[in-house]
Amino acid sequence: MSKEIVVSGIRSTGFLHLGNYFGAMKNYVQMQDEYNCYFFVADYHALTTHPDPKELKGNVYRVVAENLACGLDPEKVALYAQSDLPEIPELYLMLNMMAYKGELEKVPTFKDKVRQQPENVNAGLLTYPVLMSADIIIHKAVKVPVGKDQEQHIEMARNFVNRFNNRYGELFPEPYAFNFSNELVKVPSLDGNGKMSKSENVNATLYLADEDDVIRKKIKKAKTDSGPTEPNSEMPEYIKNIFLLMKLVSPQEVYDTYTNAYNDCTIRYGDMKKQLAEDMVNFIAPIREKAKDLQNNEDQLKKIMKEGAEKARASASKTIAEARKLMGINYY
Ligand code: ADP
Ligand code: TRP
Repeated sequence: MSKEIVVSGIRSTGFLHLGNYFGAMKNYVQMQDEYNCYFFVADYHALTTHPDPKELKGNVYRVVAENLACGLDPEKVALYAQSDLPEIPELYLMLNMMAYKGELEKVPTFKDKVRQQPENVNAGLLTYPVLMSADIIIHKAVKVPVGKDQEQHIEMARNFVNRFNNRYGELFPEPYAFNFSNELVKVPSLDGNGKMSKSENVNATLYLADEDDVIRKKIKKAKTDSGPTEPNSEMPEYIKNIFLLMKLVSPQEVYDTYTNAYNDCTIRYGDMKKQLAEDMVNFIAPIREKAKDLQNNEDQLKKIMKEGAEKARASASKTIAEARKLMGINYY
């Protein structure tokens, strides 16, 4: 039986963080043996926020290096830059004819961006989910490992797939968001406000490139209080977040010890944060060091991206030829 197809992308908009790791990259690494995987740097998507051209290339190389440092094997997966596949913008154009202004304006991530950057509400932002759908269905993917924040975009991809198939004939399967834990992940920021992210909440986000003392400092500052006064009481959101981080990187016994201490009101958050900081350092340091080494070898990164793009184009050009044929765009 042929392997199921998987696609996912990460924007080249800054340093990768713990949210990217647990929402996306950890799954990539676990999927690479069992699935036919296409993973890419979404550099076109990054253009919606007008990055400085001088910084774009370094950001793209770093995303590739950090993905490799987390354990992706370029022999097993296609790892490439979105802009190396001209078939993607072609399919994006086709899908734009089936995407309606009204539905695009309702997307919560679009509304957030309108609030954040009212001076730059460009058409690329509005059609962001259309480009993302093209990224996914260009390889006929069925599984898309992403964090919780992307769920709605994948639902839109299913809508576009159905519209295309109904109008022109069956071509694309429906893609679904995927996480090995059965639930999509949202890694919270350390200040208790929203999720960790590349550009917001910089001091409350743990980056895979953070040095040990920076990790310790950020965790030390995480919001806590004087502790519970009633046994087995409900945890406030910011305390839940610290436990969630501990669950991700600390051994189960450590997590259980602090949970029990919370429940019998003997918990000392200072100790808990110290423990979490050490476990976090042990988790991040090897990835950081490996990514640094890889970034020092640009030739190797370029070779991996070129080979990845070749593999990905073989699949993309097949799909676009089929789409053109179904649409009647095959004159010669
Ligand atoms: P960011 O939002 O930090 O700019 P991207 O938009 O490039 O990152 O997201 C890349 C992947 O990482 C997506 O699959 C996204 O769902 C996931 N992701 C980003 N932040 C988090 C988070 N805090 N928790 C879980 N997954 C996340
Ligand atoms: N929109 C995603 C994000 O902001 C990144 C992305 C672009 C993506 N194209 C994709 C993710 C295709 C999965 C599949 O996180």
